[in-house]
Amino acid sequence: MTTRPTKAMPTATAEHGADPDFDTVYDRAAFGSAKWANQWDEFSPRVRGEDLLSLWTADMDFRAPTTVIDRLRAAADHGIYGYTLRDPEHFRIVQNWFTVRHGWTPPVETLLPAPAIMSSVAAILRTFTAPGDGVIVQSPVYSPNFEAITGNHRRLLVNRLRLIDNRYEFDLDNLAELAASGAKVLLLCNPHNPSGRSWTADELLAVNDICARHDLLVISDEIHCDIRLNGRPHVAYASISSDAARRAFICTAPTKTFNLAGLPSATLSVADPSLRSELLNAMRASFMINAHYFGRLALETAYTTGGPWLDRLTDYLKGNVAFVHEFVQERLPEITPMPPDASFLVWLEARELDARVGGLHQFLVDRAAVNLYDGRVYGPGGEGYVRLNVGCPRKVLTEALERIDRALSR
Ligand SMILES: Cc1ncc(COP(=O)(O)O)c(C=O)c1O
Repeated sequence: MTTRPTKAMPTATAEHGADPDFDTVYDRAAFGSAKWANQWDEFSPRVRGEDLLSLWTADMDFRAPTTVIDRLRAAADHGIYGYTLRDPEHFRIVQNWFTVRHGWTPPVETLLPAPAIMSSVAAILRTFTAPGDGVIVQSPVYSPNFEAITGNHRRLLVNRLRLIDNRYEFDLDNLAELAASGAKVLLLCNPHNPSGRSWTADELLAVNDICARHDLLVISDEIHCDIRLNGRPHVAYASISSDAARRAFICTAPTKTFNLAGLPSATLSVADPSLRSELLNAMRASFMINAHYFGRLALETAYTTGGPWLDRLTDYLKGNVAFVHEFVQERLPEITPMPPDASFLVWLEARELDARVGGLHQFLVDRAAVNLYDGRVYGPGGEGYVRLNVGCPRKVLTEALERIDRALSR
């Protein structure tokens, strides 16, 4: 029996020091964490009195960079939380981040402030499509995409990703057929959630050829772009060609990268001036433009000072991913992880096991007290998979895998 990780509350000593600390386990339930609070009500009765280990929702159990915490503390102490502006200097900070980290320089005038990614996706769909228009997603994929489409009364068109040697590829033939069937928009997850697959420039160019032929707009959700596990740079959709830039809405945010999801602040890059002004008007009419006092500051501080922290985080996450691969190979042979190129999610194939235990996700909640994301949530192609969030201290990850091993060995 391994010991359960002990939890700490954040303290002044834990947050200072030369190196970021990714090993301490913090109690997050006390502050309304969607990932950690009230899970038992949602998922299952308690298992043998053990706390459910939560490796599902895509935020990390790490503290943000100390520079961000200090800036937010100073802003909190200031005590006047009035309306907040994202000025031209703010957008130069965003631009500089993408230039330095990814070699892509979005012109400052293309950048629009947005509250968050999914509200922006919904706004783009409502602005540039009509009810009943077709919107393509490539599944399995981040499930709120489905809601954004069907909840706004657009027609969901699913292009299944092809699974080749435990890696996803675009199905370009089917994409072309769907594009020809009257689709208006491709909603692209770049890099891809749940698999962490980064699309190459050649792959994106092939997609853009199809979109150009059928005059589709492209929403490229690039929220997972910054954590580069494979060492290769992110390819922003708008960077592949001028035609791609002209038809694209690039959606970015520092929220996954620096663990700031509770302080949302996103930036869109829209190169085409008429698309941009139409979207800006629509966002204004939906009162989406005001900045969040803390979100703006967190973005600026993270993008200007967070690079070294991100490099250390990336190393830590690479270690976690390698640990999962080794553990699974030795102890859980019925599970096959897909190697992620980016971010902190590992997509686990377990089709036979899923069938044998009558649904792996619920089995793991009920018998192992470990909560992963059920692959079915991600739509067609997600059956028989679970998604593991490795954005947690290694000892939590170890305990979760040990519990899974014990539950499956019983
Ligand atoms: C691919 C993807 N897009 C968007 C989001 C959510 O972004 P936001 O909270 O800014 O709406 C997530 C969160 O998990 C995600 O994985």
